[in-house]
Amino acid sequence: MRSFIASSVFLGLAYAAAVPVEASVVPRGSHGHKKLNVQVGVRPYYLVDDMDESPLKEKLESCSEQKFKTSDFVFAHRGAPLEFPEHTLQSYRAAHRQGAGVIECDVAFTKDKQLVCRHAQCDLHFTTNILNTTLASKCTTPFTPFNGTAPATAKCCTSDITLAEFETLCGKMEGFNPNATTPLKYMDGTPYFRTNLYAQGCPKLMTVDSYIPLVDSWDLKFTAELKTPEVKMPFNGYTQKQYAQDLVNKFYEHGINPSRVFLQSFLPDDIFYWIDNEPKFGKQAVYLDERVDTPAGYANATASIPGLAKRGVKIMAPAFFALTKLNDAGKIVPSEYAIACQKAGLDIVAWSFERSGWLQIGGGGYYYDYVKNVLNNDGDMYTVLDVLAQQVKVKAMFSDWPATVTYYANCFGL
Ligand SMILES: *[C@@H]1O[C@H](CO)[C@@H](O)[C@H](O)[C@H]1NC(C)=O
Ligand SMILES: *[C@@H]1O[C@H](CO)[C@@H](O)[C@H](O)[C@H]1NC(C)=O
Ligand SMILES: *[C@@H]1O[C@H](CO)[C@@H](O)[C@H](O)[C@H]1NC(C)=O
Ligand SMILES: *[C@@H]1O[C@H](CO)[C@@H](O)[C@H](O)[C@H]1NC(C)=O
Repeated sequence: MRSFIASSVFLGLAYAAAVPVEASVVPRGSHGHKKLNVQVGVRPYYLVDDMDESPLKEKLESCSEQKFKTSDFVFAHRGAPLEFPEHTLQSYRAAHRQGAGVIECDVAFTKDKQLVCRHAQCDLHFTTNILNTTLASKCTTPFTPFNGTAPATAKCCTSDITLAEFETLCGKMEGFNPNATTPLKYMDGTPYFRTNLYAQGCPKLMTVDSYIPLVDSWDLKFTAELKTPEVKMPFNGYTQKQYAQDLVNKFYEHGINPSRVFLQSFLPDDIFYWIDNEPKFGKQAVYLDERVDTPAGYANATASIPGLAKRGVKIMAPAFFALTKLNDAGKIVPSEYAIACQKAGLDIVAWSFERSGWLQIGGGGYYYDYVKNVLNNDGDMYTVLDVLAQQVKVKAMFSDWPATVTYYANCFGL
């Protein structure tokens, strides 16, 4: 791994030196996974087969029979939600098995100010079964059916219910049907490129208190995103700062060394809060940069990089489209934003792989925006990943299907 992971491994070893000898003889890089039989499954092979002929394809083919191991280059985005309901126990287990070195919990708070793992504070109506339970009556906006012109709507937030109520819900595949006339039809909206195969029964939702011991038991690293509240803060007296501090406190309570934790936020004030008040966490906090989503914002964001480095930010993380572009010859190369980060000595983490559906449809859309004109088959996603890894030099890649990135990372020794 490159510098920031390397330094955290170093800290991890220093920490390990204080504990019994058995723990410190675990070989560096293995994170104690000697017994884990990492499985990448068939998908990486399918993608490599689908690639156009190139030296990269040959290199990836040459790794087909190797034994795969866990890599810190691989950040599991919401678990493995390409096929498993996001932020559930089953999804995190799949990510672990696929070799993700770092597992994500997106953090939202409940009505009683407890921290749970959800991608957004108000996504319960399309990521859980809440509309099919008695808790539906507590939703901010109850279900309203499609009426011939206006789409069906609902809005259910973690802050609408208590922790105990949250724990009675079941995860489902992300998605909804805007044309639905009943809650059950609304919930039935899994996109064509995902599957309900692993969504039967009651996929178990996660709280921060169940996530931390689980990932710790696997000896993996953590990435926890403080999700931007969708209710006005302070919420019944709960301030943004307390929310940011509570997340840090959870890792203290569970005895986790900060070198194993990558906190994230889209809000620069959260990042600055951790830098100023919890520097051990702040020095590897990840600034999720959505300013790049508009051309003017992209230019501003690029210009702001040296100032952010001065302020103590160490890791930038835009959507990966912002890190590449096409040069005049139509080749995929690092973007101005990526180069600005490199020049300022900032590390880059990119998101999110395997969320786009078929690349033959519009070159993959949002995540491939600046390079989509040269993409037309799913194998091309490895071409983009290769530029991100080798030229942009991202330190890690979030993926909805960690195995795809694990295969690449192992093949290139990342
Ligand atoms: C909806 O709830 C009913 C009653 O609990 C249950 O039998 C059914 O499986 C549920 N359907 C979904 C999609 O959650
Ligand atoms: C459907 O709902 C929208 C939004 O509430 C409303 O403006 C519209 O008149 C409704 N259409 C019908 C056919 O009821
Ligand atoms: C909803 O209905 C509209 C037209 O009535 C159709 O174009 C659209 O594809 C439908 N969407 C879904 C998700 O079924
Ligand atoms: C870009 O920065 C300029 C100057 O600071 C500011 O006026 C403008 O609102 C910013 N635009 C965006 C989209 O952030």
